[in-house]
Amino acid sequence: MDRTNLLLFISCFIIHLFISCLASNLPNITTDQSALVVFKSQFKHDHSNVLARNWSSDTPICSWIGVTCSTRHQRVAATNISNMDLSGIIPPELGNLSFLVSLDMSGNKLHGDLPKELAKLKRLKFIGFSFNRFSGKIPSFFEAMPNLQQLRLRNCSFTGSIPPSLSNISKLEDLELTYNSLEGTIPVEIGNLGSLKNLWLRGNKLSGSIPVSIFNVSTMESVDFTYNSLSGNLPANMCRNLPSLKYFSVYSNQLYGQIPSTIDECSLLQDLELEYNQFNGPVPKQIGNLSRLVRLYLGNNNFKGILLNFFSLFYITRKIHVHYTWVSYHSK
Ligand SMILES: *[C@@H]1O[C@H](CO)[C@@H](O)[C@H](O)[C@H]1NC(C)=O
Ligand SMILES: *[C@@H]1O[C@H](CO)[C@@H](O)[C@H](O)[C@H]1NC(C)=O
Ligand SMILES: *[C@@H]1O[C@H](CO)[C@@H](O)[C@H](O)[C@H]1NC(C)=O
Ligand SMILES: *[C@@H]1O[C@H](CO)[C@@H](O)[C@H](O)[C@H]1NC(C)=O
Ligand SMILES: *[C@@H]1O[C@H](CO)[C@@H](O)[C@H](O)[C@H]1NC(C)=O
Ligand SMILES: *[C@@H]1O[C@H](CO)[C@@H](O)[C@H](O)[C@H]1NC(C)=O
Ligand SMILES: *[C@@H]1O[C@H](CO)[C@@H](O)[C@H](O)[C@H]1NC(C)=O
Ligand SMILES: *[C@@H]1O[C@H](CO)[C@@H](O)[C@H](O)[C@H]1NC(C)=O
Repeated sequence: MDRTNLLLFISCFIIHLFISCLASNLPNITTDQSALVVFKSQFKHDHSNVLARNWSSDTPICSWIGVTCSTRHQRVAATNISNMDLSGIIPPELGNLSFLVSLDMSGNKLHGDLPKELAKLKRLKFIGFSFNRFSGKIPSFFEAMPNLQQLRLRNCSFTGSIPPSLSNISKLEDLELTYNSLEGTIPVEIGNLGSLKNLWLRGNKLSGSIPVSIFNVSTMESVDFTYNSLSGNLPANMCRNLPSLKYFSVYSNQLYGQIPSTIDECSLLQDLELEYNQFNGPVPKQIGNLSRLVRLYLGNNNFKGILLNFFSLFYITRKIHVHYTWVSYHSK
């Protein structure tokens, strides 16, 4: 071996040592396995014991039920343990599943706080925690997940207010906080979510007026504020920047004022639910221009005018489902 070759050999050897040293410190599928084993160990299983039997250390974790690995990195990419009747907590170790893209734990009886270590899951695009029994406030650490597109926290027993920091999840498309016990106002910052399509806040105790910034999110398709205590009125130009809106419900709130006559600028609207509020004035005839409307709920408000003839003639022929009660009708 001459000098050059010897040098080359030594450098290769050093590089090799360096790489294997690096690799031995890197998290790998074994890290994922220990995280899932800790997770499994604290479940109080239902009688069918699906995970207890299936998540066996004798089989590779990528074959475990509800676990999907990425072929490229050989790491856990998705965990779906929805509707398995599991009770227990989410351990901090779950934050070690660093290649996780999708985490669905909906429909169980998980309780306790969400560990802050979940903020380490930078690749997450989907979080489904709906129908569980967590407690306390919605953590603000979701903002540390830059790729998150869907955050589903329906019926999770969360209290407190909606953290304004959620507005920093710039790729967020679905924000579902339906049926919790959230109070306070809807943060004005939510209007900064430039990719938001679905904003579902039904069944909480939200109050104050709807921030006008919400009507500025042009990607919005569905807005559900049903069963809250929102007040104030709808902005006169509410549809100017909502070309994709299909569903708009403020059913059962305390909103007042008139329905904006520009409502037909939301030309894709299929569902308009304004029932059980204190809206007044005439119902704008521009509603008749909403050619895709299939559901129109106006009852139990304080509308005035020649409404009934208009609707019975026009809508019944188009088979639109109209809710409209005499109680709310004050003919002059
Ligand atoms: C994972 O890394 C550990 C050290 O952290 C190592 O002992 C183990 O052999 C590695 N496993 C695989 C499958 O690479
Ligand atoms: C676990 O479930 C998966 C998917 O249903 C199945 O392919 C696998 O054989 C099961 N493993 C054990 C150990 O039961
Ligand atoms: C999880 O599994 C359930 C049942 O198979 C399925 O309906 C749901 O869409 C899955 N979740 C995700 C995020 O794929
Ligand atoms: C996983 O996370 C826990 C707590 O967050 C930590 O203490 C532990 O060292 C991690 N385990 C591995 C194998 O990386
Ligand atoms: C919330 O989920 C519980 C079960 O976890 C169910 O009993 C209750 O009816 C749900 N509430 C709503 C409003 O969906
Ligand atoms: C969003 O993130 C920036 C930068 O970290 C921070 O300064 C700002 O306060 C955050 N916004 C909200 C509403 O939390
Ligand atoms: C709506 O968006 C425009 C620009 O896209 C901005 O100038 C304006 O301040 C926003 N209005 C509200 C109420 O957020
Ligand atoms: C409703 O649509 C018709 C065309 O179908 C149009 O002539 C009319 O101006 C529209 N009405 C309003 C109030 O925009």
